[in-house]
Amino acid sequence: MQLSRRAAGLAESATMRVTRKAQELRDAGREIIDWSAGQPDFGTPQVAVGAAIQALEEGFTRYTAAAGIPDLRRALADHYGRLHGVEWKADNVVVTVGAKAALFELTMALIDEGDSVVVPSPCWVSFPEQIRFAGGQPIFVPLAAEDGFAIRAQPLIDAIEDTTRMVLINSPSNPTGGVIAADELRRLVEHCAERGIVVLSDETYERFLFDGREYASAGALAAEFPDTVIVVSSFSKTYAMTGWRIGYALASADLIRRVAAVQSHATSNPTSFAMRGALAALTGAESDVQKMLTAFESRRNFLVQGLERLPGVTCTTPPGAFYAFPNVAACYRDGCRGSLEIAEYLLEEAGVAIVPGVAFGADEHIRISFACSESDLAIGLERLEAALRFPAAR
Ligand SMILES: Cc1ncc(COP(=O)(O)O)c(C=O)c1O
Repeated sequence: MQLSRRAAGLAESATMRVTRKAQELRDAGREIIDWSAGQPDFGTPQVAVGAAIQALEEGFTRYTAAAGIPDLRRALADHYGRLHGVEWKADNVVVTVGAKAALFELTMALIDEGDSVVVPSPCWVSFPEQIRFAGGQPIFVPLAAEDGFAIRAQPLIDAIEDTTRMVLINSPSNPTGGVIAADELRRLVEHCAERGIVVLSDETYERFLFDGREYASAGALAAEFPDTVIVVSSFSKTYAMTGWRIGYALASADLIRRVAAVQSHATSNPTSFAMRGALAALTGAESDVQKMLTAFESRRNFLVQGLERLPGVTCTTPPGAFYAFPNVAACYRDGCRGSLEIAEYLLEEAGVAIVPGVAFGADEHIRISFACSESDLAIGLERLEAALRFPAAR
């Protein structure tokens, strides 16, 4: 069968590959410490579960408007209006099948064959693939580990070419946890606005910020630059609702209409009763969110301190998200020359599942999720220490 060029070029995501291999080992009876998960280990807040059950019982099981239920669009506009100091209205919001669908539909709506998109790197695995899927090319801008993988305006501006239609940032970042500061964000948006380039800000991890840090959202610049700023976020991580598949985008009403048109031919509405659950989470789950954030900050500290003690491993403390992204290149040796090989070695020899940095464009690194219990972090660290001494010749 002849595949389209678009599909033929797509590889299985490395994240999925590690998950699949870890499951195979589990099925064979091995006890695996899972440091690969891109999702909170907490349960969905009860208030969301109850609202979804009620919606089902009320028979709220039919198609809705493709852009999402009006109540949720309005509630998101109000919520972010307060946060951003912007008068967002319901028609500035589209509810999507996860942030992933929002990003995909926006890319489809904005990128043509031959366009380029500036992306800080390391970056989330789906950004380059979605850009290529739309016929565009990513232009990667390397971030420095010594700088905590901070996203800065000038290198992004310097990378812009004549073909560039979009700058795509993700703060806090998956995989690095790095963030962009408010003044850098303003510089970037001002510059892009002058050149007619949009700034797409993936704020999926907006709540996962530590050490009392304040969040710098591109949304705060939307009143000044309404045709430049696009914000994407999600219920997945904030409310531990990854399986519910509810995300959203905020942008000018004109762009949102076009994205909703793409969505109307791609997925139609996100699941009706899941949107009711999301609405309840948005307005009634703050204490659940706070509990999770407190746990994640202490896990982050525990993990990073443990990693720093390991010979050959260097790790900056991530200011946000729930991933550590240590450099392990000093541990590479014959038979274990890159992050993919070390990921396979750690899984097979130590029973620890991590994601190789090469998946994010950084082969010297591995990604460790601390969305797991402190005891799993402690056991994983012990196993990592033993495995990185490479007792078995390879
Ligand atoms: C940076 C980033 N953006 C978007 C997503 C997609 O999230 P969702 O579950 O809302 O589709 C993820 C999920 O891992 C992510 O890490």
